[in-house]
Amino acid sequence: MQYGRAVGSAVAVVGLRREFGGRRGQPVVTALKDVNLQIPEGEIHGLLGPNGAGKTTLCKILSTVLLPTRGSVEICGYDVESETAAVRRLIGIVFGGERGLYTRLTARGNLEFWASLYGLSGTQSQRRVGQLLERLGLDQRADTRVETFSRGMKQRLHLARGLIGDPRVLILDEPTTGMDPVAAQEFRTLVTSLQTEGRTILVTTHDMAEAEAICDRVTLIDHGSVLATERPSTLGRWITRYARVRASGLLPAQVAPVTAALSGLDGVATVHEVAEGTLLVDTAADGAAPAVMRLLLDLGITDVATTRPDLAEVYLRVIGNRGMRVDR
Ligand SMILES: Nc1ncnc2c1ncn2[C@@H]1O[C@H](COP(=O)(O)OP(=O)(O)OP(=O)(O)O)[C@@H](O)[C@H]1O
Ligand SMILES: [Mg+2]
Repeated sequence: MQYGRAVGSAVAVVGLRREFGGRRGQPVVTALKDVNLQIPEGEIHGLLGPNGAGKTTLCKILSTVLLPTRGSVEICGYDVESETAAVRRLIGIVFGGERGLYTRLTARGNLEFWASLYGLSGTQSQRRVGQLLERLGLDQRADTRVETFSRGMKQRLHLARGLIGDPRVLILDEPTTGMDPVAAQEFRTLVTSLQTEGRTILVTTHDMAEAEAICDRVTLIDHGSVLATERPSTLGRWITRYARVRASGLLPAQVAPVTAALSGLDGVATVHEVAEGTLLVDTAADGAAPAVMRLLLDLGITDVATTRPDLAEVYLRVIGNRGMRVDR
């Protein structure tokens, strides 16, 4: 494969801001504030954040569908604004959902159509489409209309579409939404195999488990700001560090002494009685939750359960602890 300009970063985003609205008295919505992001070639990078965080907006800017309001964005050294054509040759985009598929056409018909848009000749197109249908496990259904496909099959067809141009950088916006766990697992295996071919992959997700399973690094984004870029193992550690223990069935006389004993343990952040005889213990250190469990069992309290905080809480607590502010 010959890709042109040799550079280190597949994606380089500096000081990116994107606003919407502002015309005819409309309010201005700032979808991205001051985003900086470097993704080296060959990395699977996760973009993780709640609804409205700015993930899709960022994907659209990287794929030249939207322009930045301010800041610079390069794909393999090419600027998305001034070198749009070069960027388009390098990227493949997979946006989830139904849009963009011609449901009256067959899977093969769809792919051949997109291949023609990429300027592939008849034989090249046939070969490439055949390979992709097989690779995505769609060869058995290649000649049936897409309207009969399940969501998971449509998602795989979307991915095949994203791969038609043999992209160096693949942008996947929530690719496994609507897939059952088996299909999602197959999809992840496939994404990993695309990485081994040297491609760089940016994948947005709401799902921490998905991010942990496939990503080399993950960027947490919320309200248009990047909160942190970390390895998924670090995020996993944060999540266990901030585990929460619920103990139920305490007798009224036990509540005060048990609360005092728990509060004295290292790594216990707070202990609250959330209902009569039920304590909720928030921890904030590695190993604190198991110590809480042990103490409770020693005290004869056996109705105990641990829960993991969700990502939004992890953002707030970890990022808060690091002295960064999360706008709420
Ligand atoms: N075309 C638009 N016009 C006005 N506001 C927009 C537009 N597109 C996005 N926004 C706003 O920008 C913010 C970020 O939206 P975006 O779709 O990027 O979030 P997201 O992280 O992809 O969310 P989700 O997880 O729901 O897909 C939201 O407040 C959204 O309402
Ligand atoms: Mg989105």
